[in-house]
Amino acid sequence: MTGSLFAVSDIHVSYAENRRVVDGLRPETDDDWLIVAGDVGEIFADIERALALLRARFSTVIWAPGNHELWTHPSDPVQSRGEQRYQALVRMCRDNGVLTPEDEYPVWRGIGGPVTVAPLFLLYDYSFRAPGTATKEESLRKAYDAGVVCTDEMLLHPDPFPDRESWCWARIAETEMRLTAIDPVLPTVLVTHWPLVRQPTEVMWHPEFAQWCGTDRTAGWHLRHRAAVAVYGHLHIPRTTYYDGVRFEEVSLGYPREWSKRGVPPAPMRRLFEAPR
Ligand SMILES: [Fe+2]
Ligand SMILES: [Fe+2]
Repeated sequence: MTGSLFAVSDIHVSYAENRRVVDGLRPETDDDWLIVAGDVGEIFADIERALALLRARFSTVIWAPGNHELWTHPSDPVQSRGEQRYQALVRMCRDNGVLTPEDEYPVWRGIGGPVTVAPLFLLYDYSFRAPGTATKEESLRKAYDAGVVCTDEMLLHPDPFPDRESWCWARIAETEMRLTAIDPVLPTVLVTHWPLVRQPTEVMWHPEFAQWCGTDRTAGWHLRHRAAVAVYGHLHIPRTTYYDGVRFEEVSLGYPREWSKRGVPPAPMRRLFEAPR
């Protein structure tokens, strides 16, 4: 039982200040693993460079996509969209020895183990509606009126699905089958970019933004799928909370303008389990 399981997200390597932080991420032992819960960056080659760098240091790196990886950014030479882009990211990860939601879920046997580590790609479906709204259309209108619109609306294409919620629901159906099939004896570490439950979004500065942050359909997953810890990012509000007695870890680094205000140099890698004393 040696080695620690670490997690980080939202390293956003398009920022030079963040690249310097990422350059400082190193394992403490040869047995440490690193979970990267999405928003590595948006340019395909940048994402690959960052994941390859981390994989050269950590014996195992486990990635789940964030919305930024799924953007088709006008300045990215890789212009694939939607599902095709996701599959290209998965192939790139496999070429670099990085585990993805499409691989067999690994079992962590170091400190805190054994636990099944399940990186999940689930997206969102606008069910975390803006306050006072009852439909997706109303909720979106409220966000546009408030000037709080996620760039996903312009850059995250759902092809070949008609919309992002259809893609989300397909991912949920597929993922639920895989989670149901894993060894029921082991607890899990569920890794998503978007939180599995709505509560973490309640502290956001702009409540209209919650509709791009998850789906009501995963509300009970941390219980049903035996999560010892649920890891997520996306909100750029790093903290630890408990829902139904299950620990949730928001492990984001965030943008330099966010972390620089905290006044201490960022140390974004979160150790998920402490060694027993
Ligand atoms: Fe992010
Ligand atoms: Fe995100």
